[in-house]
Amino acid sequence: MATSKRSLGSLITRNRIWESIFRQGYPSSDENRARIMFNSWFLHLHPVKVKSHTLEIGYTLGLGVISFVLFSVLVITGAWLMFFYAPSVERAYTDIQTLHNTIAFGALMRNMHRWAAHLMVLFVFLHMCRVFFTGSYKRPREFNWVVGVILWVVTLLLSFTGYLLPWDQLSFWAITVSTNIVGAFPLIGDKIRLLMLGAADTGPEALVRFYALHIAVLPLVMGALIGVHFWRIRKDGGISSPTEKNENESREVTQ
Ligand code: HEM
Repeated sequence: MATSKRSLGSLITRNRIWESIFRQGYPSSDENRARIMFNSWFLHLHPVKVKSHTLEIGYTLGLGVISFVLFSVLVITGAWLMFFYAPSVERAYTDIQTLHNTIAFGALMRNMHRWAAHLMVLFVFLHMCRVFFTGSYKRPREFNWVVGVILWVVTLLLSFTGYLLPWDQLSFWAITVSTNIVGAFPLIGDKIRLLMLGAADTGPEALVRFYALHIAVLPLVMGALIGVHFWRIRKDGGISSPTEKNENESREVTQ
């Protein structure tokens, strides 16, 4: 009797703990399953139901998810690299050498950052091609396509601004040549080049500008736009499906 009282007591305590966190019963009914999604700070980001074709890897090839994972790897490794790097012309090159050659896990973290950056450009491009070839840019997803195009531009800008930071011969001349190409643009070319470099030539002003864009401005824009992109997928009724595309096509024919 004493034992059953104790176990009843522990059951009540456990239920209280469960309810204080989850605030609804075990997910054994559709209603409870939906409540769990609505009431959890983490889970409310996910839809209560998904269409089964969404889970088929052959349709999306997971390219959007891979792009997001690569962005996350870049944020984590990039934050780590910031502990060992100062954006000044006196220190930038030697900081990177020290980081790469003497700091524990330095070469690993730097190479992870570089490879994830190259791969992100590749995978965002492939994701864009998948969206195009499945016709998923069509109504009602036109707005998300536009958000995607901006994400593609921001991905390239992140790649471009990061290129200068090692401050070695390759990065110095790559930025000098590319900004000279921009400078050759008629009428406004010189002004845009000056805006990019902050001075007449590639120097400390350019390094600070590229650094600020690379570690703060562009990642924040990217994070916010990815948020809008994912929210939009939910609002557009989940990702597109081959059947839905056929319906659109037949509607277009009959109109
Ligand atoms: C940082 C870059 C990007 C990330 C992290 C990202 C992430 C995602 C994810 C996770 C999905 C869900 C389906 C899937 O995995 O394929 C998706 C769908 C979509 N993305 Fe992206 N995306 C990015 C860039 C782009 C670009 C460059 C475009 C086009 C210019 C684009 C347009 C779309 C559209 C229209 C959908 C809906 C597709 C459908 O309903 O089938 N995204 N994105």
